[in-house]
Amino acid sequence: MIDEERIVSFINSLDSGKSQILSEIEKEAKADFVPIVRKEMQSLLRFLVASYKPEKILEVGCAVGFSSLLMWEASGKQAKITTIENYEKRIPIAKNNFKRAGAEEDITLLEGDATLILHEMEGAYPFIFMDAAKGQYPNLLPDVTRLLSKGGILVTDNILQDGDVCESRYAVTRRDRTIHSRVREYLYELTHSDVYETVILNIADGVTLSVKK
Ligand SMILES: C[S@@+](CC[C@H](N)C(=O)[O-])C[C@H]1O[C@@H](n2cnc3c(N)ncnc32)[C@H](O)[C@@H]1O
Repeated sequence: MIDEERIVSFINSLDSGKSQILSEIEKEAKADFVPIVRKEMQSLLRFLVASYKPEKILEVGCAVGFSSLLMWEASGKQAKITTIENYEKRIPIAKNNFKRAGAEEDITLLEGDATLILHEMEGAYPFIFMDAAKGQYPNLLPDVTRLLSKGGILVTDNILQDGDVCESRYAVTRRDRTIHSRVREYLYELTHSDVYETVILNIADGVTLSVKK
């Protein structure tokens, strides 16, 4: 049996590439140790945005704007994106990246804690990408669900925590136990809710796709 790492690098080798500006931002983010979506996740996001063609996208967890720009490009530069970030150091970098890509009219960055911002937000988004602090997902879910349109899709990244989530809580280090139980709680809610139909995909660091029924 061929090992999983080789399969993933083979799949990634078929990636047809990104725009010059996205490649530059990806390189800069990696050099600065900014966590951004992995390659397999990039392909999935591009595919989902191209398929769903959402006019509006809400992203929770902007970092330096890489995935916002990826989704914007995948929408044919048509989608209006609202993204949230609370890490002050990353906010000006993200804003500058939106400017470099010519996307500053289409991407709005809301600065501050997503827990508070989402609570104040109104409107309906047909596509929501959750990529913030994993331990906060259960707390964010009620507002995210309220803001997701009927028939809309909620995409959540890093749901398998490099496999840790499958382990017993005693097998993970003490300091990771809270996040372990919160991610499990979030997964349970998504998969047992009357509101969502959810699939868990074992790609990248684990992804859930949830459709609001
Ligand atoms: C994995 S990074 C996002 C990466 C980005 N989506 C990408 O792929 O280009 C997660 C980001 O969420 C931010 N974050 C975490 N918790 C947050 C919160 N409660 N409110 C706002 N931002 C938050 C972190 O500061 C971090 O920059």
